[in-house]
Amino acid sequence: MPEAATAGSTFRQGLAVRGLTKIYDSHRGGETVALDRITVDAGDGEFIAIVGPSGCGKSTLLHCVAGLIPHEGGSLLLDGAAVSGPGRERAVVFQDPSLLPWRTVHGNILYGMDIQRRPAPDVAHARVESLIDLVGLRGFEAHYPFELSGGMRQRVNLARALATQPRILLMDEPFGALDAQTRELMQTELLAIWERDRKTVIFVTHDIEEAVYLADRVYVLSARPGRVQDVVQIDLPRPRTPEIKREAAFTAIELGIWRMLQGQQQKEVR
Ligand SMILES: Nc1ncnc2c1ncn2[C@@H]1O[C@H](COP(=O)(O)OP(=O)(O)OP(=O)(O)O)[C@@H](O)[C@H]1O
Ligand SMILES: [Mg+2]
Repeated sequence: MPEAATAGSTFRQGLAVRGLTKIYDSHRGGETVALDRITVDAGDGEFIAIVGPSGCGKSTLLHCVAGLIPHEGGSLLLDGAAVSGPGRERAVVFQDPSLLPWRTVHGNILYGMDIQRRPAPDVAHARVESLIDLVGLRGFEAHYPFELSGGMRQRVNLARALATQPRILLMDEPFGALDAQTRELMQTELLAIWERDRKTVIFVTHDIEEAVYLADRVYVLSARPGRVQDVVQIDLPRPRTPEIKREAAFTAIELGIWRMLQGQQQKEVR
């Protein structure tokens, strides 16, 4: 079982977000504190979920961790060393697949390796082939994005992120636009992929059930400015299958997190 999430000063292999603060300047002159001293631990191979109300800063947190936007306070540590800016060891899966319309499935999965000019072309093509099998797109290699369903596009999106073999996958509501059945299928496929090669995953969602199903640990953020309101360890056995969602232990955890978020809403209304 992973070390306690609150082990602030303990060095661990993996990613550590320490007291991260993000302030957006408004073009109207004011500013928005989007994140207020957020601390998140993602040890090597851990699956971390982030939940919180809309606008609490989940995407902002992910973009800061990806190094896509700067932060104003705190630090981002990888294996104990500060990092700034993007890096090859981190890959982002955005909510909107944003595939390149002029490239086929094969070409889209290849894209990151093309840009990085590594590995060698024959290795890269072989990797694409195995990823096509992994995400269940055999037979669709030569299809263009417009010829795919939403779920299939999201599979390509995931395969594209996996192609450069990042240590850390940063996922921003990747299944948010899918219907319930496809979503469950994708969750289970993601778990199978994660069981296989145990990447570190930080998964943003507003779906509590999804967070509990997938994660080792769930960080519950408060409404803006985003703060870590609670950290919930999910000690449910693995490998997990969708049936677990109907078990009492599962629904009890889900209800606990739901109450935390409800409590926030009530405070906001008052
Ligand atoms: N580029 C930006 N410039 C100014 N403010 C921004 C910018 N991006 C986000 N914000 C603000 O920061 C806050 C957090 O936004 P963010 O998109 O991170 O929330 P979120 O938790 O991902 O919401 P959702 O669940 O709706 O996706 C919001 O108040 C938003 O208005
Ligand atoms: Mg968001």
